[in-house]
Amino acid sequence: MQNWDSNNTWTSCYMPRVESHKIESVTGDQLKMLDIKNATAVITGGAGGIGFALAKYWIEHGGHVVMGDINQDLLDAAAEKLEGNVETVLFDVTREDDCARLADTAIEKFGQINLVAPFAGIIIDSMLVSPDRETGKVTRKMSTEQFRKVIDINLTGVFLTVRECLERMINNKCKGLICLISSTGSLGTAGQINYSSTKAAMSVFPKVITAELFRRGFSDIIRCSAVAPGYVGTDMVKNMNQQALDKILTNVPIGRLVEPEEVISLVAELYKNEALAGDVFFIHGGLRLGSGG
Ligand SMILES: NC(=O)c1ccc[n+]([C@@H]2O[C@H](COP(=O)([O-])OP(=O)(O)OC[C@H]3O[C@@H](n4cnc5c(N)ncnc54)[C@H](O)[C@@H]3O)[C@@H](O)[C@H]2O)c1
Repeated sequence: MQNWDSNNTWTSCYMPRVESHKIESVTGDQLKMLDIKNATAVITGGAGGIGFALAKYWIEHGGHVVMGDINQDLLDAAAEKLEGNVETVLFDVTREDDCARLADTAIEKFGQINLVAPFAGIIIDSMLVSPDRETGKVTRKMSTEQFRKVIDINLTGVFLTVRECLERMINNKCKGLICLISSTGSLGTAGQINYSSTKAAMSVFPKVITAELFRRGFSDIIRCSAVAPGYVGTDMVKNMNQQALDKILTNVPIGRLVEPEEVISLVAELYKNEALAGDVFFIHGGLRLGSGG
């Protein structure tokens, strides 16, 4: 067995039982749900569409937010709209030291991290190779830069954010959830070999992280899940050309884009309900995923 000693350090390698956590569970006769009130969320890409919707929800429910983003103007605008315990951090998710600084900010300002939402993400779409219609010869290719940039932000950035936050969650005895964001693109979308690869990776992260936490005896304290939205009405999607958007909507049975607030309602349920762990939860309005069925 493993346990914390009086100096808050490891005493052995397996199955620790941490006696006190900073977030109290709300206990009914049968149900045990986590409360958002006074819980701290670290959100990357927090000034953007889905990240901002999460920050707003979290504040409205009495939580604290540390919001990291690379865009200062967006951060300023977001901070102006939110009233409550919000810290904004200008940072680049691809930088190790920036991710450590983001996680440190949460501990310094609020003493804990209870929700990690590494939502910073980009798309740079292009076909792997594009042959010319007339000659049949390849005239354009996805550049290595296009591929690497998306991998850096959407995959390495998540790895760094989760690693730095998880370290501090364990060291500060915090209870909560790492909530990743995958996508229906994880199933493979033409023109997105870079993006789809990163989102497929987000499908396996919850399993690996949950297995590791289980092995180390933390899986009842810190859980990991992912949400996988379809097409959500944020700038990322609204900036597509109208023709592409109309085509997408013909495949969405609810006949519209998913709203960021609908995604966040799922994130909140994943946080509160401790039975939800280690998996990917889709939210796409019935998107046919190319099957035509
Ligand atoms: N919009 C959708 O339809 C959709 C669907 C499925 C999954 N997602 C995922 O949800 C997440 C959020 O998407 P969104 O639609 O809100 O996008 P968005 O473009 O509105 O917001 C993304 C935010 O990430 C920030 N960001 C970009 N690069 C960064 C970096 N290097 N460091 C720090 N911050 C950086 C941007 O400044 C922006 O504020 C992404 O991971 C995206 O892949 C979106």
